[in-house]
Amino acid sequence: MKDIITIDGPAGAGKSTVARILARRLGYTYLDTGALYRAVAWKVKKAGIDPEDEGLLRKVLEDTSITINGDGVFVDGVDVSREIRTAEMGEMSSRVSAIPSVRQYLLSIQREAGEKGRVVAEGRDTGTVVFPDAENKFFLDASLKERARRRHRELITRSPDITFEATMKDLERRDIRDSTREVAPLKRTDDMIYIDTTGLDIDEVVAEIIRNLRPSGSSDRNLFYRFAAMLIRLIFRLNGGLEVRGVENIPRIGGGIIASNHISYLDPPLISAVLPRRVTFIARKGLFDIPLLGWFIRHYSFPIDRERPSPSTIKEAIRRLKRGELLALFPEGRRSETGQLLEPKRGLGMIVSRVDVPVVPTLIIGSNRALPVGARWLRRAKIKIVFDRPIYCSSTIETTRGGQRAYEEISKRVMSAIRVMKERYEDTGG
Ligand code: DC
Repeated sequence: MKDIITIDGPAGAGKSTVARILARRLGYTYLDTGALYRAVAWKVKKAGIDPEDEGLLRKVLEDTSITINGDGVFVDGVDVSREIRTAEMGEMSSRVSAIPSVRQYLLSIQREAGEKGRVVAEGRDTGTVVFPDAENKFFLDASLKERARRRHRELITRSPDITFEATMKDLERRDIRDSTREVAPLKRTDDMIYIDTTGLDIDEVVAEIIRNLRPSGSSDRNLFYRFAAMLIRLIFRLNGGLEVRGVENIPRIGGGIIASNHISYLDPPLISAVLPRRVTFIARKGLFDIPLLGWFIRHYSFPIDRERPSPSTIKEAIRRLKRGELLALFPEGRRSETGQLLEPKRGLGMIVSRVDVPVVPTLIIGSNRALPVGARWLRRAKIKIVFDRPIYCSSTIETTRGGQRAYEEISKRVMSAIRVMKERYEDTGG
C-alpha cells in the first residue's frame, strides 16, 4: 500500500501550510505540486517564450529538468524555490497549467514522487488525476475574502506595493481558470472530505485531517493480537463493565502517543485492548518480570528505566514515532497506589519535543478496584477509559525554546488534561 494523502483546493485555502505540517507530523514526504507548475512558469519567463505556444513550450520542456525535494524546487539544477513565490509566477503558472502537454510532462514527475508512498500531495488535481487511488483525499476551501487575506499577507512580505483588492481579483481569476480548464480542472469529488477552513487556524485544520484519516490496507494487528484484545474486553465487560469513550480521538495513522494515568497493572493490557490500532507501550522495566502480564507486556512494549530514561529509550521511541507507530506511556512514570494523580516525569516532554506527534491524554478509572494493590485475582469493578482530543505541543516548544522547561511544561500540560477528565468522569460514577 502506498499511503498517499491528497489535498486539493483553490489558491489560498491553506493547503501548503497544512500539508507541510501534516507531512511532518506523520513522517511523510510533502509534495507541493503547484511548485512544479510555478517552476514551468519560471522557465517560460527565463526562456522568454509565449506561454500559450504549446509546440515551443513542449520542445523547451523536453530539455528541462525539474526536480522537487520538500520545499526545494530546482530547474536545471538552479534553486528557484524563492523566485517562484511571486504573484506574477502564480498567475503565469495558472496559465501554463491549462496546457495539456505541461500537465502530461509534470504528471510523471509527480507520480514518481509518489512511488515510494507515505506522501502528502497538495494541488488542484492530486486526488482526481495524479493519485486517483489515494486512500485519503481532502478538499480544502475557504471564502474568497479569507483566501485573499491570507495570500495578501504572504505576498506583501515580498512585494510591499501589492494591494488586497488586486490580490483578491487575481485569486478570483485564477480560481475560474483553474476550475474551468479542459484538462484536470480543480474539482471536488465525492470521495474527498471537504473542510471549510474559514475561521479555523492551521492546527485545527491539521487536527481535523488527522481525525479523518483512515488506515490503508490490512490491519496492523495480527489475528492473535485481535483475539487477545477481544478476550480482554470480554472479561472486563463481564466483570463489572468496560466503558470506552473518545476512540475517535485516536489518530488512525501516523505516529502518536497515548499518555495515560496509571493505577493498576491492568492498565497496559486494558488500554491496548480498546485501541483501534496496534500500540506499543513504553513500560517500566520491573513490569516485564510479572508472571503472565509480564509476558504480554514483553511482547507489546519496550522497557524504560523510570528513574533515568536512557537516551536509547528516548531514541527508540522517537524512531518508532517517526516510522508512524502509536506508542503508549504513563507520564507519571509509575503506578499510583492511591489512585490519585502524581507529578509527571519529564520523559513524555523529552520525546514530544523531538518529534511533533499528537499526544492523546487518556484517563483510566476503576482498574485499581478490579485489581487492587496486592490482590491475586480480579474483583468486580466497572472500568472506564476515556481518550481526550489530541494535544500538539509545538507551541509549547516554541514559547519555551525547548530544553528542560519545555519537557516539564509538556508533561504538565498533558497531566492537567488528564486531571480535568478525572474530575469530570469520576463525578459521574466512574
Ligand atoms: O498552489 P499554487 O498556487 O502554488 O499553484 C499554482 C498554479 O498551478 C495554480 O494556479 C494552478 C496550477 N496547479 C495545477 O494546475 N494543478 C496542481 N495540481 C497544482 C497547481
